[in-house]
Amino acid sequence: MALLPILEFPDPRLRTKAQPVERVTSATRKLADDLLDTMYEAPGIGLSATQVDVHQRIVVIDVSATQDAPLVLINPQLSAPESTQEREEGCLSVPSFYEVVPRAERIRVSALDRDGKPFEMQAQDLLAVCIQHECDHLDGKLFVDYLSSLKRDRIRRRLSKLRRQEATAR
Ligand code: NI
Repeated sequence: MALLPILEFPDPRLRTKAQPVERVTSATRKLADDLLDTMYEAPGIGLSATQVDVHQRIVVIDVSATQDAPLVLINPQLSAPESTQEREEGCLSVPSFYEVVPRAERIRVSALDRDGKPFEMQAQDLLAVCIQHECDHLDGKLFVDYLSSLKRDRIRRRLSKLRRQEATAR
């Protein structure tokens, strides 16, 4: 088990576009497992490789109440967005801020699983939101990008203030 440090907004590395995984190897599986450990420990319901400064198209998700249904998506592709929903979102890279973001209510996902096997699934509700949020990370996009620049700047300022306070407290 390895816990990976999570980059925080506005770190410019969060803006990197991740590369497709060409071959799922034991290193890919180790990364997926470390991402899951890091996500559960945080705790969170989703984490992308981008957030731990690894720029490969891998995300992990678990929206189950019991946190025992890990989902690994490698090279995820989203299609057929249907309808819209608005939910409050948070992000491990934007700690302690929650805002409502518009997303598709239902989407289709095709990806490789942890073993490199292709699969397809349909997602809705919270799972659909989580998948869209994590896949955005792979394109260098954050949920705060959907907010007004005023709100985004306020979050940026408050986060740097929090970080300064943490540094002084240490
Ligand atoms: Ni996030």
